[in-house]
Amino acid sequence: MRIELRAWKVGDLPILIEFANNERIAANMTDSFPHPYSKEAGLKFIEWATSSDPNHILCIKADGKVCGSIGLHAQQDVMCKNMELGYWIAEPYWGQGIATNAVTLMVQYGFKHWDINRIFAKPFAVNIGSLRVLEKVGFRKEGLFKAAVYKRGRYIDFLEYAIHRTEWEHRTIEPIP
Ligand SMILES: CC(C)(COP(=O)(O)OP(=O)(O)OC[C@H]1O[C@@H](n2cnc3c(N)ncnc32)[C@H](O)[C@@H]1OP(=O)(O)O)[C@@H](O)C(=O)NCCC(=O)NCCS
Repeated sequence: MRIELRAWKVGDLPILIEFANNERIAANMTDSFPHPYSKEAGLKFIEWATSSDPNHILCIKADGKVCGSIGLHAQQDVMCKNMELGYWIAEPYWGQGIATNAVTLMVQYGFKHWDINRIFAKPFAVNIGSLRVLEKVGFRKEGLFKAAVYKRGRYIDFLEYAIHRTEWEHRTIEPIP
């Protein structure tokens, strides 16, 4: 399967709404990812995703079809050499290695385009699929934060995974061709 990342376009709005309007995705994201996912939310998202140069949020395509989104978010102040990674894959495309490929491409893209030293992600501890994706790409588990997240009326743990520029440059995992 050929995985590419490209800028979001306004023309992607119908497929974005169709796939993003999914409670199983929203349950694993921060509350800034809305549910239900309205047309207005989709338009606002595409506007945000295309507001920077280089784009910091990209659309994931698998064999030419839009199937998810991935982003790197700048941090402020003393954390300015870090970016936070976030992503989701449309449910019909789960379990085909797409997130692993897309995260690999995005880490490559991030270290190429920004003067950053570290990329991190904060998956909920129950999100086994996402933990596995990060481990497969070469991220290291750096910490467990007990009951730090309040989601849907419950306290849950999150983990922090990270990869540093030097680790990425000296990785033994093969880059995606
Ligand atoms: C988590 C998510 C990104 C995984 O995407 P995906 O494209 O299905 O992941 P991949 O196919 O690359 O899978 C990578 C590995 O994780 C495993 N995996 C994926 N989903 C899994 C699940 N639900 N339970 C257990 N393992 C899972 C795969 O088996 C694979 O491991 P393997 O190669 O050892 O078999 C996707 O399910 C999703 O978008 N979920 C909702 C949103 C979300 O969680 N975003 C991340 C927030 S941190």
